[in-house]
Amino acid sequence: MNALTAPSLAPLQSVLSPAGPAAAGIASVSWMLFVGAAIIFAGVMGLLAWAVARRSARPVQPMRWILGGGVVFPLAVLATLFVYSHWRTPGWLVQPPPGALIVGITAHMWWWEVRYRDPASGQDITLANELHLPLGRPVWLGLNSPDVIHSFWVPALAGKVDMVPGRVNHLLVEASEAGVYRGQCAEFCGEQHARMALHVVARPPAEFDAWLAAQARPAAAPAGPDAPLLALGRQAFVAQRCNACHTVRGVAGEGRLGPDLTHVGSRLYLGAGTLRNQEGAMAQWVAHTQAVKPGARMPSSSDMDAATLQALAAWLEQLQ
Ligand code: CUA
Repeated sequence: MNALTAPSLAPLQSVLSPAGPAAAGIASVSWMLFVGAAIIFAGVMGLLAWAVARRSARPVQPMRWILGGGVVFPLAVLATLFVYSHWRTPGWLVQPPPGALIVGITAHMWWWEVRYRDPASGQDITLANELHLPLGRPVWLGLNSPDVIHSFWVPALAGKVDMVPGRVNHLLVEASEAGVYRGQCAEFCGEQHARMALHVVARPPAEFDAWLAAQARPAAAPAGPDAPLLALGRQAFVAQRCNACHTVRGVAGEGRLGPDLTHVGSRLYLGAGTLRNQEGAMAQWVAHTQAVKPGARMPSSSDMDAATLQALAAWLEQLQ
């Protein structure tokens, strides 16, 4: 955990706490629907009470009620709602607006691959399960999936967009308030659909640039008083064949089946929102993957000896 990503966080996942313009539109439409429906419900109940209680012998005029309450009133309400929601919903864009940051997100069973373009080198930077955004800048997300249909949903930022194999869907998001927001796969995609969370970290542009530059760097060589232990951990990463599925840039492995681990120590969570990335979590995840997240594509390494596990976890934890 580094200083940048260590706010005392209770990540928000609520449609009613918007942190960007697209989500603000959805929240205002939701409130209008809720308040409007409550008023209409109260009105209908009032009319019902009046009809039951009224003593007058004067007959009601059915046609007036049917036309007024059944045709004119619903038409007026629905037309108003249509205009209002159309006005509050962001327009559909075919291309990213000028100045937008472009980020690729690929949904896997059951984690998120996040790809940035390094402005310095032009190379791709591959990350997992975390999306960092600069405040106040539009971000154009390209969303796809190689396996089944998933759905990208960060309620504080925008509505849902399906991630469909064989096509790239787009979503324009913008964060106007700094914070950490939780997102969740919103389309049932198999056994661990529920544990397919994504965290969004929105921060000022200068902090974002520093973060991206740090993520672009390869893993640092083991140093400091723990260097022998860390070197052992780094060896174990190769000896245990972790690199068959994972990459740590600057060390070993071109594995693309699992998340890139070059800076795994800097992430808020492990296993796509499953475990808070704190002391002991890495060893627990590596040794008991199938107990923590049954069905995950990574096997439990429960037969690894304690010293190797400790060294491997220590090395992974310091990959900041
Ligand atoms: Cu991915 Cu549900």
